[in-house]
Amino acid sequence: MADTGETFAAVAARSLWASMAQAGVDWPVSCRNGTCRTCLARLTEGTVVYDVPWPGLSLEEKRDGYCLPCIARPASDITVLPG
Ligand code: FES
Repeated sequence: MADTGETFAAVAARSLWASMAQAGVDWPVSCRNGTCRTCLARLTEGTVVYDVPWPGLSLEEKRDGYCLPCIARPASDITVLPG
């Protein structure tokens, strides 16, 4: 994570949040389905993919690097900041 320097293994088959939780990273989460935005994060490096057609983010937010770790899966090595 860009602000703390913490690193964790993010598995492509699981959500970022699931990988964070397994690594002991304390990250806010609530709905876990991409609607409440509690988990909002900003990617400073890397890309993510979603299994749902349109996560709860605007085009502008996606373009600016925001993501929802509860449903985003890593598509590369990533660096995130709290949203
Ligand atoms: S926890 Fe609700 S959108 Fe991620």
